[in-house]
Amino acid sequence: MTLKFHSRVIGHRGACGYAPENTMASFIKAAQLNLKWVEFDVMQSSDGIPVIFHDDDLDRTTNARGLLCSQPYAYLQSLDAGKWFNTAFSGERIPSLMTVIAFLQEAHIAANIEIKTLSQHEENLVKHVIREMQPYLQKANDNYLFSSFSFEALRLLRRYAPNCQLGMLLHDWEKNWREISDELQCVSINVNERIMTETMAREIKEQGKWLLCYTVNDPARAQELFSWGVDAVFSDVPDRIGEYYGELSSQ
Ligand code: G3P
Ligand code: MG
Repeated sequence: MTLKFHSRVIGHRGACGYAPENTMASFIKAAQLNLKWVEFDVMQSSDGIPVIFHDDDLDRTTNARGLLCSQPYAYLQSLDAGKWFNTAFSGERIPSLMTVIAFLQEAHIAANIEIKTLSQHEENLVKHVIREMQPYLQKANDNYLFSSFSFEALRLLRRYAPNCQLGMLLHDWEKNWREISDELQCVSINVNERIMTETMAREIKEQGKWLLCYTVNDPARAQELFSWGVDAVFSDVPDRIGEYYGELSSQ
């Protein structure tokens, strides 16, 4: 296994406790915090441009309403994605995948790219993401971990990028997680911290996978998870988590 977590903390949606999630302001904050890894969510515009965004619809985090995937990129670019968080961030835009990757590459930050897709739309999005990521994967495959709650999206990622690093996301326990993660050659299991137990942590680590937990903002909970064998946690407030700069040995 070559993928390596250089820190026990992964910035969630950038560093979304401090800046509007999944915007450049959030990734700049992650760089200022010296993070080695960030996570963000990818969807796509109606004209097929991968963009960084979490919800299916625009309502919560922009000044518009309705489904993001029904809107063309030019329209998405015109929206304010920062004001809802704080007026100091008015004018923040929904960034494209390529804008964020170019920034992270310069800042030497590795990325967990979470594929968010509506059912039946997986193939189009995965194809576009892989096409854009191909030059970066050729240079530094291990700097990118792709994950999804959609097993179909994971299958398509494996098909279109046979060497990519895959992480299986689990909101609830999936009884066939071992079989599916082996079939897809997942290097990590990324689990909702609310369902994590010491026993499950041990079982996952026995399979030789990286074990990541989301979303952990309480340092005491992070310490408990680390003591069970969890390798790293996703956090909105990464600088509050202890062992923040802790270097992890490879498996
Ligand atoms: O990838 C970890 C975490 O981000 C998954 O949940 O809803 O925050 O994308 P969500
Ligand atoms: Mg996510």
